Parts: sequence; structure tokens; C-alpha cells
Amino acid sequence: EQKTYILGIESSCDDTSAAVLCNDKVLSNVVASQKIHELYGGVVPELASRAHQQNIVPVVDQAIRQAGITKEDLNAIAFTQGPGLMGSLLVGTSFAKSLSLALDIPLIDVNHMQAHILAHFISEEGFDTPEFPFLAMTISGGHTQIVKVNDYFDMQVIGETIDDAVGEAFDKSAKLFGLPYPGGPLIDKYAKLGNPKAFEFPKPKVGDLNFSFSGLKTSVLYFVQKKVRENPDFVEENLNDICASLQYTIIGILIDKLKKASKQTGIKSIAIGGGVSANSGIRKALKDGEQKFGWKTFVPKFEYTTDNAAMIGIVGYLKYIKQEFTDMSVIAKARAKF
Ligand code: KG4
Ligand code: ZN
Repeated sequence: EQKTYILGIESSCDDTSAAVLCNDKVLSNVVASQKIHELYGGVVPELASRAHQQNIVPVVDQAIRQAGITKEDLNAIAFTQGPGLMGSLLVGTSFAKSLSLALDIPLIDVNHMQAHILAHFISEEGFDTPEFPFLAMTISGGHTQIVKVNDYFDMQVIGETIDDAVGEAFDKSAKLFGLPYPGGPLIDKYAKLGNPKAFEFPKPKVGDLNFSFSGLKTSVLYFVQKKVRENPDFVEENLNDICASLQYTIIGILIDKLKKASKQTGIKSIAIGGGVSANSGIRKALKDGEQKFGWKTFVPKFEYTTDNAAMIGIVGYLKYIKQEFTDMSVIAKARAKF
């Protein structure tokens, strides 16, 4: 079999990442997470681009070394063109262009959202790949989408958030509970110890397969304000129950829409991706769906669900096979669609 080495580069938000793939197998996947944003309780775009600028060379260098190859072995370079933060995207885009020019190898533009979905096609022991067509739900701090995937590059967004992403609902609520950023994993942790029926949060009324999370955030704010007026220690004393109840509500929202999407399309094959797919509650609810609704579900290896360059590399490989390259006039697109 022919060996194709692809370098993937991801810099759309606050993680600088580089990966090397040999065909559909990951040889290395280096991620430099930017700690700096914790201090600000969220991603600061200006600081993110600076950190990318600082990290990109050492991260790419390390990915190539860890893969046990040299840069001369590379067959192509794939990079995230968008969507994402413009300043962050520019760093990866410019770097990828320059390196492709220097090594005289093809350049491949990758849509970040498609990459989250196609991460399921990375060959990894113990992980199945879904068959077409399937539904993919991408849930993270930046995205909340349900996509009908007909083929590798034939995808249709059939539902998405009209305001906040689901990860923001976790993180912003966590902030109101006095938890550090990003609060999602902490809510997950405390939720395991609490009663999910202790408190009730309203589910948003938004039509079709779309999502809305800004109202939930507001109702959490009012809930906390009201309770703290009655008892200043309310949040500390009830943190587990609050987290469990909020998580229960959010998972309910996600699963309701998946059920609706599955019914509408007749597709029972369901894949998830994005940072929030690490949530233990959503994983369990999805697994339960196999019994309850006859679903077949797919959750990728954790390191391929959060922002990473391996997922950019696999898209690079899939496009390389089709000889789908881009030229040097390519530009980053903050609002890239597919
Ligand atoms: O994919 P990701 O690393 O970056 C993007 O936002 O694109 O996702 C990060 C998001 C954050 O909002 C974080 O709080 C959330 O994923 N997250 C979780 C969990 N782990 C990460 N949310 C709930 N439960 C978790 N276990
Ligand atoms: Zn992402």
C-alpha cells in the first residue's frame, strides 16, 4: 500500500495543534493549549493569536519528530481555513502556505466543522467508523450543530444554535457558580454526586432542529440571584444538585433534538464530536439511545473530539486521495460554511 504523509495544522481558536498522519492513521498529534485564557474566564482573541504565533513552529516541529519522519517525507499540508477567530486562523493559514511553498508540496484547505465530523474516520483500534448516511452532532464551546452526513464531503446542516453554543451554556453557568474556566468538566464532575431532579430549569422553545442556550444562561443567573438572596451560601451548599439539574436539562435538550432529527431523516446512526462529547451524561444518554431507540452511536477517542490537528489531517488525507488541492491565493475564513 502506498504511504501518504499528511501534516495537519489547526489554529482556529485557542489550541495550537499539529499532527502527522500516514494515510488514515495518526502518527502524532501535538496540542498546545493556551492556559492564559483561564485568567480571563474565556478566550481572548488577541491573546490567542499571539500564543499561536509563539507556539506554531515548536508544535509543528514536535509533531514531525514524534511521527518519526522528516519534513521531506511529507506529501501535503492540510490546515484549518475556518470557521474560527480570524487572528488565530491567519497564523495557521500563513504558516501552512509558507511551509508548502518551502517544501514544494500541495496545500489543502480544511473546514473545521467538517473535520470534527470526519474525525470519526481516523483509523483507531477499538473505534468503529460510521456508515453513510449518518447524523453528526457537533457540540463544543464554539459549535452546536446537527449535520446529515451523506458522504465524506456531502454534508447538510439540518440544525444549529441560534445564539450560544452548548459549551458556553456549561461554561457561563459554571462562572455563575463561582467555578473556574472552562467550567464544563467541573459541572460534569459535581453532577455525578447530585440529584438531577432537585431543581428545574426551563427548556428553550425553539423550532425545528435548532438550539438556543442564551435563555437557559439567563434563567440560571436569575435562579442563582434569587436563591443567594435567601441564603448567601446556597450555591456552595447545593453545588452538586445544581450541577446535576443543569446538566440533566442540557442533555435533555440535546437528546430531544437528536430524536427529532432521527425521526425526520429516518437515520439511526448517530455520531458526536466536540469538547462537550466528553460529558459523561451525554455519553450515557447516547448509549441508552441504542436500547431505547435502536440507535447505533459513535463517540471518537477523546483526543480527537476536542480541537486537534489529527482531524485536520484526516480530511487532508481524504482530499489528497481525490487530488483536491488549493492554491496560494487561499485566505482564512472566519465564517466558513460547508
Ligand atoms: O472542542 P473544544 O475543546 O473547543 C471548542 O470550543 O471548539 O470544546 C471545549 C468545550 C468547553 O466549553 C468545555 O467546557 C466543554 O467543551 N467540555 C465539557 C466537558 N469537557 C469539555 N462540557 C461538559 N462536560 C464535560 N465533561
Ligand atoms: Zn472545534
